[in-house]
Amino acid sequence: MLASPDPYDELPYQSFPIEWTAPEQLVLTSLLHGGPRPPLDAYSVLELGCGDGTNLLPLAYYRRHANFVGVDGASSQIELANTRKSSLQLSNLSYFCADITRAAEQLSGEFDFIIAHGFFSWVADEVRDALLELCAQRLRPGGLLYLNYNSMPGWNVRGLVRDFLLKQTAGTTNITARAKLAQDYASRLGWSLTVDEHPYTQLINNEFRFACDKDISFIAHEYLAEHNHPYWRSQFLDLMQPHNLYHVADADFNYDSGRAPEGLALWLDEHSLTGRGLDDTVDLLCYRQMHCPILTQGPLNRTPPGLEEFSNLLIASCLTPCTENGDGNSTYQHPSGSQVEVKQEIIGNLLTKLQPIWPRSLRIAEAFPDVNRVMDDLVLMQLNGFIELRCIEPGDFGVPGEPLNRIEAQDGYITTPYHTFEAFSE
Ligand SMILES: C[S@@+](CC[C@H](N)C(=O)[O-])C[C@H]1O[C@@H](n2cnc3c(N)ncnc32)[C@H](O)[C@@H]1O
Repeated sequence: MLASPDPYDELPYQSFPIEWTAPEQLVLTSLLHGGPRPPLDAYSVLELGCGDGTNLLPLAYYRRHANFVGVDGASSQIELANTRKSSLQLSNLSYFCADITRAAEQLSGEFDFIIAHGFFSWVADEVRDALLELCAQRLRPGGLLYLNYNSMPGWNVRGLVRDFLLKQTAGTTNITARAKLAQDYASRLGWSLTVDEHPYTQLINNEFRFACDKDISFIAHEYLAEHNHPYWRSQFLDLMQPHNLYHVADADFNYDSGRAPEGLALWLDEHSLTGRGLDDTVDLLCYRQMHCPILTQGPLNRTPPGLEEFSNLLIASCLTPCTENGDGNSTYQHPSGSQVEVKQEIIGNLLTKLQPIWPRSLRIAEAFPDVNRVMDDLVLMQLNGFIELRCIEPGDFGVPGEPLNRIEAQDGYITTPYHTFEAFSE
């Protein structure tokens, strides 16, 4: 249960839309991993711990064909969410203020999608268990649950900094003053450390600088929060089991932290690691600090997409051609700077056609005469974040962004129909 006074009322958390929580993206990821595909023509979404509605507002605004409900325990956050909703006159969105342990009384029906970002790790065990019970009760069979958490062992490094900052600032009770003090410590340490070749200095310095760059509300609710529990993947999955919830895939497969060392897959194969041991080993070796899993109710009988289903997907790309290497293969560059070598000429030709129409997409069946030949390569490029496969085209929602963006711009960002956001400084 929330402490009194509620720390999120005292210092509201600065939220941003989370790209991979858009229902069409959850379905695409689930589909590629053989999981359920809830319908995308009409559906319902519940967000738990929705804060001031920053994530739900653009989702509901652009997707008038679906219904959205947000719940949060901080009344000032829900008040703000309702003000924004009213100014856009959205009838497919409702918010209410409730503690998660009692929210069931105010909810009706089941949901195709349930989202909880920034909740699972940041509450007491009994609240976490209430969250799981509510999700299991209200997730429609074949629906998708998105539940993110801080993960072991990578988050432990952030945990070191958290322990340190908690102790250093223990004498300050006002939450904002304490967070400012903590950020000041992080800044002084970060900038006074000489970043030498030693990996430890680099790692800890990175963490201090990460804290310096963040909003003060992040410092308060990540480093100084009463609860912040990281989980090993195996522990997390054990907690899902009594609720009949099964892991489908990670929604944020292209997330910054967590890079697979080269040759990892081969090494794991050679050492015959399987099951839970495998999950934890991968996280240990990849330095993953956060997980964003998608779950569904069991039993989970995976059905990978067949040729027809895959051909029906859309493809978009903003890759630009670089050079041709000595093997005659072309290299393409992503705006992030990473490059990919494309062996099949037919894929290269399509990428050249897609870049000028970005972010619009083309149907795979219409782009390739023989989809079978390109399917594996396209999946690999998608999983590495080089192209975007889509189930539907959000550019076709047909809702002008301007009224929404005018409200969002007051907080320094705007959201697109694709649920991506652009932040800008004044
Ligand atoms: C870290 S913020 C995350 C907000 C948003 N989901 C995001 O990711 O930006 C956690 C949110 O969960 C809400 N919360 C925490 N404990 C809660 C509880 N027991 N019942 C309802 N809401 C709760 C807080 O009020 C806060 O808005």
